[in-house]
Amino acid sequence: MRGIQQSLFAPTPSTQSTIAEPKGVVYTKRWVVDLLLDIAGYKPECDLASALAVEPAAGDGAFLGPMIERLVESCARRNKPISDCAGSLLAYELDEESAASARSLAVNILRGRGADPIVADTLSRGWIRTADYLLEATSFNADFVIGNPPYIRLEDIPEGTASVYRQAYTTMRGRADLYVAFFEAALHQLRDGGACAFICADRWMRNQYGGDLRERVTGAFAVDVVIEMHDADAFHEEVDAYPAITVIRRQRQQSTVVASARRGVENTPPRALAGMVLATASGETPALPHGLSAALVHTWFTGTDPWPCHSPEQLALLRKLEDRFPRLELGAKVGIGVATGNDRVFITKDPELVEPSRLLKLGLAADILDGAMKWSGHYLVDPWNGDGLVRLEDFPRLRAYFEKHQEALKKRHTATNNVRGWYKTIDRVTHDLTNTPKLYIADIKNVLDPVLDSGMTYPHHNLYFVQSDEWDLEVLGGLLMSAIGQFFVESYGLRMRGGYLRFQAQYLRRIRVPDFRAVSKSLANDLVQAFRARDRQLANRAALEAYGIDRCEMEAALGH
Ligand SMILES: C[S@@+](CC[C@H](N)C(=O)[O-])C[C@H]1O[C@@H](n2cnc3c(N)ncnc32)[C@H](O)[C@@H]1O
Repeated sequence: MRGIQQSLFAPTPSTQSTIAEPKGVVYTKRWVVDLLLDIAGYKPECDLASALAVEPAAGDGAFLGPMIERLVESCARRNKPISDCAGSLLAYELDEESAASARSLAVNILRGRGADPIVADTLSRGWIRTADYLLEATSFNADFVIGNPPYIRLEDIPEGTASVYRQAYTTMRGRADLYVAFFEAALHQLRDGGACAFICADRWMRNQYGGDLRERVTGAFAVDVVIEMHDADAFHEEVDAYPAITVIRRQRQQSTVVASARRGVENTPPRALAGMVLATASGETPALPHGLSAALVHTWFTGTDPWPCHSPEQLALLRKLEDRFPRLELGAKVGIGVATGNDRVFITKDPELVEPSRLLKLGLAADILDGAMKWSGHYLVDPWNGDGLVRLEDFPRLRAYFEKHQEALKKRHTATNNVRGWYKTIDRVTHDLTNTPKLYIADIKNVLDPVLDSGMTYPHHNLYFVQSDEWDLEVLGGLLMSAIGQFFVESYGLRMRGGYLRFQAQYLRRIRVPDFRAVSKSLANDLVQAFRARDRQLANRAALEAYGIDRCEMEAALGH
């Protein structure tokens, strides 16, 4: 098992922290390390010798070096010999070369502070293990787990290893990144009051694969601090991942500091920054320097709910909207169109292909690109009726067509699970939806762009639909295309590499909307007009009024 991931990492230069990726390594600046240690409470003022601090992925010691410095100072303040600290630190590193660099860094720091050479050598060898943290973490407890865990997609790790990790760390689900296992392992080993402080990609706080980890955290731990670092000058190079600092403690959840560190913040000493974060945590409102915003949040999320905390202003507005308005799904049905498992067979433009009753007009994402529904003439070859799958003997042309393609159709996963229904589409068709007016929203990137289907087509899989018996859909469309819709996309969405946002359908249901009865006639008219003319300015004005939200508040929340 030892060394299994080594080939994924480029060597790291000494005393710099990194977020590693299969394609490269990014170096973190020292101010981030010091900030993180301070807010985690790993400070020389405390009795660090009596605690166990773990660095689970030490590299060549970017975190470990400053941790040793603090440990030595802590001992000096208490007149404790450093030789007493054999059990105070434990660092793991898979890569022998990096581990060796970390050991010599440790020796240099200790000797530079007057330690005996034999003591320095013994401590460093005891502290730094060339071993897999994930295989040992569950066997001992710790007071601090601090660092920058590796950021590798599980699919880039050999399958055998990945499955060992999956078995040991059950929150790592789907296409999770390895850092999810590091979080789980770290949390598991925390003693009461102990802290896990990581700088790590923040994706898990909002995406699907992070759901189980969020549930684990909210079930038994407290989220003390989240500092979003998307735009901070935290690394020596451009980063692909969007990082955040999180401090999670084994204790009952109280309030959380949500902060945002942006470019320029590094001009303030890390100790002062940490002081401001900690003062905010105690309910004070310290003057914050350029590049830092921070707020105290008194309730945290529960279960698998996403943590949309990009900035304090954004979280405050989101909380307000979530508290005041009901979810879209309470007054509307939100769904996704039909997946076939083989679009080449199930989708056609030929109106003569099979019996006319077996062709269903299909709405595609490409049909709504211009902001209005323009049916492109595609049909679904429809194997369903109101009772379930049709009997092929009742439709000879359909039968001949499906039989011609049966080899391809039978290979689909959905067909192997249902041998008699080998000609089914993955999803069942609910025919009523075709003739019902609905909003279509294509795969949501950056903005919500709802388009009205007046009851002509059935949606294909890459279209979400919103259907409602209560709402005037054009009024709803106007609200969704406004800055408020945008705000929800930015809050619940996931920023992907390249900077664009992706939005999952499950979060469409969570968008908050006013009670449809509470929207005045004149605002409703404006929203309809904005929707028809694709006029976002007008939609923004009307939506802000409908929600009672101030423009400045919205702009601050959107980070404009
Ligand atoms: C993102 S780097 C962080 C290095 C160091 N903490 C820093 O900030 O510079 C991740 C390190 O974890 C190591 N690593 C990867 N998987 C590991 C595992 N299962 N156990 C221990 N170390 C591991 C890698 O070799 C790499 O040096």
